Amino acid sequence: MPTKRAKISIIGAGNIGGTCAHWAASKELGDIVLLDIPIKDKPELHMPRGKALDLSCCGPIEKFDSRITGTFEYSDIAGSDVVVITAGLPRRPGMSRDDLVQVNAGIVKSCAEKVREYAPESIVIVVSNPLDAMVYVAWKVTGFPAHRVMGQAGALDVARYKTFLAMELGVSVEDVQGLLLGGHGDDMVPLPRRTSVNGIPISDLLPAEKIAACVERAKGGGGEVVKLMGTSAFYAPASGTIEMVEAIVRDKKRVIASAAYCEDEFGVAPGQKGKGYFVGVPAVLGARGVERVITFPMDAEEQKFMNESISHVKDLVGVVRKLMPDLG
Ligand code: NAI
Ligand code: 2OP
Repeated sequence: MPTKRAKISIIGAGNIGGTCAHWAASKELGDIVLLDIPIKDKPELHMPRGKALDLSCCGPIEKFDSRITGTFEYSDIAGSDVVVITAGLPRRPGMSRDDLVQVNAGIVKSCAEKVREYAPESIVIVVSNPLDAMVYVAWKVTGFPAHRVMGQAGALDVARYKTFLAMELGVSVEDVQGLLLGGHGDDMVPLPRRTSVNGIPISDLLPAEKIAACVERAKGGGGEVVKLMGTSAFYAPASGTIEMVEAIVRDKKRVIASAAYCEDEFGVAPGQKGKGYFVGVPAVLGARGVERVITFPMDAEEQKFMNESISHVKDLVGVVRKLMPDLG
């Protein structure tokens, strides 16, 4: 029996959304819907349809048969297996991710309401910043079980970390293994103790100060790009997002650092049933979404950094709760 093609809808067809569609099509992960809103004062334009058409014409060259639809209509996302939410404002120079909270919370809320209505069985991946709080909004508004809602940040942050280590070492990025936990902020938690080149501990290959410099560059990687381009990164964020989408639609059980719902895990909200938060942790991604969060012992310093990062995520969610008292 032929297998059904996956349907992947991307809300927000801007830099990250468009690039997500590009990576998803090039990997032929399924049919793709790109949804955006009309551009104010330019009713003659249909940006998502334009991007979809342009991308569709790559099919004969790149050899994919994914159908790509551009739309302003939420009814087109019906039956989606995965919905990626990238709608929202990106950072400009001098802004932190947290500066976006007020405006993006409203945008993500409106998108999540539509996802609940039109794609109630989907798995949702949030990309909009500030990431950890926006995932929370999407979870509360959709009312989906927590394993069907997650955020993309760790895939990107880990990729940056590995890239900078590979540059420093002069080895292939494919041979660097590493992990970052916590929120998608400057206080994300690197784990040099768990970093290796094909099993050789990084501490045997680089002096501590060089490792620390790679860690700092990974933490500030988003800001470094914003300073250069005047807007947020999009190639690597989209690549990280599609790594997660691929793990889900191909049921690969990949272990990818993702903003996943946690209670007891890593001391996020111990014993507080139903009152957890979304924090970057190693998650097993497959057809059911977040199928499992992998935990492991941390040393005292790692747990201290993790606690600080968790506390920042809680503060941001607190800001959102004040803005949206009905959220819960
Ligand atoms: P962009 O400005 O290029 O695209 C955002 C798109 O969202 C625009 O096309 C806009 O029209 C659309 N949009 C706005 N309101 C909408 C609504 N109500 N419904 C549907 N679409 C709507 O921005 P970019 O660079 O694609 O970034 C998107 C978001 O992702 C930003 O919040 C940015 O901060 C965040 N981001 C997240 C990263 C991560 O790793 N999680 C990394 C980099 C950026
Ligand atoms: C990034 O890390 C700004 O979240 C965005 O590139």
